[in-house]
Amino acid sequence: MIGIFDSGLGGLNILRAILKNKKLSAYNYLYLGDNLRMPYGSRSPEAVFNFTLEAIKYLFGRGCQLIIVACNTSSALSLRKIQQKWLKKFFPQRRVLGVIRPTVEEVLEKKPEISRLGILATKGTVNSLSYLREFKKIKKEIKVYQQIAPLLVPIIEEGKEGLPCLKGLLKKYLQPLLRKKIESLVLACTHYSLVKKEIREVLPKRIKVFSQDEIIPKKLAIYLNNHPEIERKIGRQGKRIFLATDISFGLKKTAKDFFKEEIEIKLIKLQ
Ligand code: DGL
Repeated sequence: MIGIFDSGLGGLNILRAILKNKKLSAYNYLYLGDNLRMPYGSRSPEAVFNFTLEAIKYLFGRGCQLIIVACNTSSALSLRKIQQKWLKKFFPQRRVLGVIRPTVEEVLEKKPEISRLGILATKGTVNSLSYLREFKKIKKEIKVYQQIAPLLVPIIEEGKEGLPCLKGLLKKYLQPLLRKKIESLVLACTHYSLVKKEIREVLPKRIKVFSQDEIIPKKLAIYLNNHPEIERKIGRQGKRIFLATDISFGLKKTAKDFFKEEIEIKLIKLQ
């Protein structure tokens, strides 16, 4: 199976986008949302690292050969250490991929001339400076302006009921980035992809918005194509399993809306 992990329901939007790709939809997927302990964005780096490692161990225990850490906060605060130390030692044949590097590559492929870029993300992602580092590795002269949006995740987790408060909040969070005259904006939190339409509406048309549900499926397809030794190990019965550490009302409702049917979500414990 391919494991998809997120702190909450944001990753469901990534999975939904993956399943829209005919080739990718043939594989088996195991989704895990750590709804009980979200939001990760305001947690300490140590806590996010431990939660992420627990989730990865769990997904490996369930037989996942490849895991996508769809959560940017987890990717920013845990991935490098997990890939370089833990994975090499305990599961050298399996893979854990994050969302930061593929996003950075996509932005620079689509907008190679970009000079002023905005990043909208959680506190954890912003403080890690991961996006800044990754962009500068490829394009030294790029100016990256980061903005935290701490109230967005809880509002998005509320589903449609949260929407009336959304626009005002978005304007407040995006104002500092507009003052910096950004040319493009990266939605560097899986949750934000759920409100990309509203974000695009409050921004001037000239600003291109990069949303990870439009990036990760494409990058996953390329990865599987380039790594037949991993691809070969993934089942293709079209199975989907949904797991969460807390089955919140928002999660159930969003899953149903996304997949147009009642989704069975199983409750699990991570520690
Ligand atoms: N979905 C997570 C991300 O991509 C953040 C949500 C949270 O704060 O738990 O960063």
